[in-house]
Parts: sequence; structure tokens; C-alpha cells
Amino acid sequence: MRLAHFSDIHVTRFPLAGGFALKRLAAVASWGLAGRRRHFEGSDERIASLLAHVEAQQVDHALCTGDLTGVATEAELARAAELFGERLKQPARWSVIPGNHDRYVPGAQGLFEKHFGALCEGASFPAVKHLPSGVTLVLLDSARPTSVIDSSGLLGEEQRSKALSVLSDPSLKDRFVIVALHYGLLRMTGRRDSRSHGLRDDLELMRLVDRDDVTVDLIVHGHLHRPFTIKTGRRTIINAGSATDLHMRCGYNLYDIDVAAKQVAVTRFWWNAQGGRYEPDAGHALNLTVRTRA
Ligand SMILES: [Fe+2]
Ligand SMILES: [Fe+2]
Repeated sequence: MRLAHFSDIHVTRFPLAGGFALKRLAAVASWGLAGRRRHFEGSDERIASLLAHVEAQQVDHALCTGDLTGVATEAELARAAELFGERLKQPARWSVIPGNHDRYVPGAQGLFEKHFGALCEGASFPAVKHLPSGVTLVLLDSARPTSVIDSSGLLGEEQRSKALSVLSDPSLKDRFVIVALHYGLLRMTGRRDSRSHGLRDDLELMRLVDRDDVTVDLIVHGHLHRPFTIKTGRRTIINAGSATDLHMRCGYNLYDIDVAAKQVAVTRFWWNAQGGRYEPDAGHALNLTVRTRA
């Protein structure tokens, strides 16, 4: 089974439409003053190229782990949806979950659901997709509006409790189970993320996925724009990083999953800006094969 995983594509549209908020104004300042514009300049073309490249890899399914936009305006979400086009009608082949930038301010409420709800079971989380290949996707929503100095996420007790009932179902034992969320559980260093940038209930989620009665093969996320993988205890965690951020070697991951062997082979693709295309990133540390169960 072949799955593509990309994240943090950040369609960015200024000047703003769809209502101002202090946090959006701060984002405009950072876009202009701190050079954020250069991170995502021309990202529409990269996104179109990315979606076509993913399809050309003959994938069974493709997953985006959030941050489709910059400041969650109607214009940005509508443009992201336009780039997805007909794929929005194919929930059996495409999955998208929200990132913090897609729920940036309280005024953005309902916009992600309106444009991308079709690809995450109506945005009722946890959303579960049992794919015909034997892979089960458990999609979580860790994004919420926050203050100007806070970009943390939260799953909340209710969602974690629902996720526990899903993941502890014995029928999952024979399947390859992937938990997808926007926020990571750990940073690249293996340490927890900061209180103002990470998942507030990260420890609770780690305890959940470590339970003996729970089946999880792989945890995938974005939010941190530099990609990496971490294996701690029974957890295999892969961060796809940003697919479009020009301030790093941006790209996406392809997972060739052997459901019976509980094994995943990762191939990394990067954006070759000079060539104007995504291509295999032969030397990248993410090109590896991992067994997800002992
Ligand atoms: Fe991001
Ligand atoms: Fe994020």
C-alpha cells in the first residue's frame, strides 16, 4: 500500500480579507518584516506541482496534516480548495486535517469545515478511515484559535477518550494503524515542544498510544517545518515538515507499507527550486525502512 504524506503548504494571501483580528495583523507584520513572504512566495505553483507529483507516484491514498493557509481567511481557504479541485470529491483517496493556521482566530470558525470537511468525514474528530489495503487512518484535530503569543494545540479530553475507544478496538490488531495530527509529540531532539508552540496534552497522548490495549503503528504529523523521524519505545513518529517552505529543503514523504509485516519504507522527495519540480531526495535521512511492531 502506498501513502503520500505532506504538510504545511501555507497558501498565503495578503492583503487580508475576511475580517481583521489582532493576531492576523501580527501575522501580516511578520510576513512583511520578518521575511515570511520569502518562505511561501509562489507557493500556489508548488502546491499544484505537489498534488500532481503525488498522483504520478500511483499512491493509494494521500494525507495532508494541516496548515493549508497562512491566517485562515476565507480567501486563503477558498484558494487552497481551488488547488485541490476535483480531489475534494475523493475522500477515499485524499485526507486533510486542520493545522493551527487553519483555525488561526475565532473569526475563522467553520471555514476549514466548509472547504475541507469532505476529506475528513465532515470534520467530526477523531475521523476514522478503514482503507481497503488494510491501513486504518485515525485523523485527529489538534488545532484551535489562540492568542497572538500562542501557537499551541490541544486535543482535549473528549477527543482523546474517543480516540482511545477507536484505537483499543481488537479488530485493529491485524491492520496497519496510522494516527495523524498536526502537532508533533516530540521535537527533533526527542524533547517536548514548548508550552506556547507544542501540543498542550502531549503527555496524555503519549500515554494513550503507549497503552498495551491500543494498536498504533505510526504517528504522523507536521507543524515543525523541518522533517524528521523519531522512534521512542514502541512509537514510530514521522514529521513530514513543510512541503513548500523555501527556507528549508522542503518536500514530502511516500510510505510503502507492508501491512502483514508491519513495516514501512519511507521515500523523501524535495522541491528542486531550480528545476521547478519535486524529485527524490536520495541522501535524506528520512529514506529508511522501519518495523513498527516488535
Ligand atoms: Fe506550518
Ligand atoms: Fe502549524
